[in-house]
Amino acid sequence: MGSKARMGFGSLFFHYVLLALFVASSYGETAGSSSGGRSLAQCNLFQGSWVYDESYPLYDSASCPFISKMGFDCLKSGRPDENYLKYRWKPDGCELPRFDGKDFLQRMRGKTIMFVGDSISLNQRDSLACLLHAAVPDIVVSSDDVKFEDYNVTLSRSLAQYLVDIVPEEIGNVLKLDSVQQNAQGWLRADVLIFNSFLWWNRSNPGRPILWHRWDYIQDGNQILKDMNRTEAMAKALNTWARWVDSNIDPNTKKVFYFGIPPTHMQ
Ligand SMILES: *[C@@H]1O[C@H](CO)[C@@H](O)[C@H](O)[C@H]1NC(C)=O
Ligand SMILES: *[C@@H]1O[C@H](CO)[C@@H](O)[C@H](O)[C@H]1NC(C)=O
Ligand SMILES: *[C@@H]1O[C@H](CO)[C@@H](O)[C@H](O)[C@H]1NC(C)=O
Repeated sequence: MGSKARMGFGSLFFHYVLLALFVASSYGETAGSSSGGRSLAQCNLFQGSWVYDESYPLYDSASCPFISKMGFDCLKSGRPDENYLKYRWKPDGCELPRFDGKDFLQRMRGKTIMFVGDSISLNQRDSLACLLHAAVPDIVVSSDDVKFEDYNVTLSRSLAQYLVDIVPEEIGNVLKLDSVQQNAQGWLRADVLIFNSFLWWNRSNPGRPILWHRWDYIQDGNQILKDMNRTEAMAKALNTWARWVDSNIDPNTKKVFYFGIPPTHMQ
């Protein structure tokens, strides 16, 4: 259970950083239209600290229908303290507006927001859905999407621990460092893409019996390898991913976020 609690904490922690970035970037686009808009647009959102806020958390995990696994809900899993739910990201140079679900949906009207990466990404999708659901309970849920119909906003997810493709071939599943086409097909419909990949690159046992995590070989250029230096493998994969972003994402109409180095995550 201890490990589950850590996992849940991690997802919340990262969720809030991301949320801060989101809110700030959507305010940044409409600089001046709201209190502090202009200074937010110029603020370094990445430099700051976590501050205790008695008014948090912003949603009650017990009443959120999106927390898919017991292990992702610290309270249900028996964590006795609740202070960890009360931290808010505070950039040094500005004050972020308090999260307002309806305002967020209004600003994101017509958009699809997609989380891509490992289970931390799935947690983040769920957590943002919980935050918004607390403000606007009317939703439609289908396999990977949660849709807030009145606002035409979709929150989606795509599980891709390595970002690059894992392709079943005769010899087994091959992790292709230079191919992202297969995974990326689903990413094109998103207006906002939040990527994360780090943890799985350092795992020594990729052949765990969970189908979608599994690879038997790594393909690096023309070489098929049983394994290789994972730091180098990750660098190659991220270059492949970055090339995809450069040639498929118009930064004038879409937004891309990437983060690595997730917290301890014991799944
Ligand atoms: C929802 O948003 C999409 C993408 O912007 C748009 O194509 C569609 O017409 C919108 N649907 C409604 C009902 O407004
Ligand atoms: C993961 O990182 C640790 C600590 O740096 C290292 O000792 C280990 O060899 C790495 N595992 C793999 C599979 O690269
Ligand atoms: C893996 O590659 C990185 C980057 O080139 C290097 O710093 C590191 O020493 C390598 N690790 C091993 C175990 O060879």
